[in-house]
Amino acid sequence: MSNKQLLVFDSGLGGLSICREIIAVSPTLQMHYLSDNAAFPYGGKTQQAVTARALEVIEAALETIQADMLVVACNTASTAVLPTLREHLNIPVVGVVPAIKTAAALTRSGTIGLLATPGTVAREYTKTLITQHAANTQVISVGSSALVELIEAHIHGNHLDINAVAQILREFDGQPGGEKIDSVVLGCTHFPLIRDLLIELRQDWQWIDSGAAIAARVCSLLNSQPTPLNEVCHVSRQAWFTQNTSTTEKLTHYLLQHGFDAPQLLPRSSQLTSVD
Ligand code: DGL
Repeated sequence: MSNKQLLVFDSGLGGLSICREIIAVSPTLQMHYLSDNAAFPYGGKTQQAVTARALEVIEAALETIQADMLVVACNTASTAVLPTLREHLNIPVVGVVPAIKTAAALTRSGTIGLLATPGTVAREYTKTLITQHAANTQVISVGSSALVELIEAHIHGNHLDINAVAQILREFDGQPGGEKIDSVVLGCTHFPLIRDLLIELRQDWQWIDSGAAIAARVCSLLNSQPTPLNEVCHVSRQAWFTQNTSTTEKLTHYLLQHGFDAPQLLPRSSQLTSVD
């Protein structure tokens, strides 16, 4: 048990898929979730815009939240901003990036899919991951902001259009070699939130994400800084947003299901630099 405070950051609510894995292995950890919903989605923004925005929001949040560690539970942000965050912050930063290495090790056909945002697919960071860990594997990418937005809207109470999801998955089949894919990396933290549907739509693919590995990493880093048992207090999980939402009731329900308290507006959010 620990009274360490963890801050988990995403543009939207996808990072809850990472929280779910962390809670499964460390149920007493104190957690803060931070969604930059005012600037959601990040997927179509430039690397410079994502870097500047994520740094500003996280630094503002750390004025309110006494975090001992940060998890950037957003592939789009992690592949852009990790070096900058590590330079500016004096707490450990754990990033979430596509599990290319795992998929390359598991594939039998030698062809894997990468389902991520357009930003993540285009990043040098992702290209380096592929060169380093999947040099002998064909990687077929689909960058979809539409899927991120469908899932986020679903969390806020909208109907999830299954045909639209199936249509996005067909973008793999339309590419040369697509018929050989046997494993698909979920390179966006929103996607594991609809894992059951993805499995139902494509039972012939293995769906791979980094959630469990991230949870193990966080726990091992936190356990290397032990806390005396008498300092342990009750488990608190708070959720912060950079903009009020019009669907507070639905959102509160979803957060509760994931073990978090009702949404709160991050102090001084209105003073953040506005984004396109
Ligand atoms: N959950 C984020 C990710 O992992 C979504 C990014 C977005 O806002 O487009 O990339």
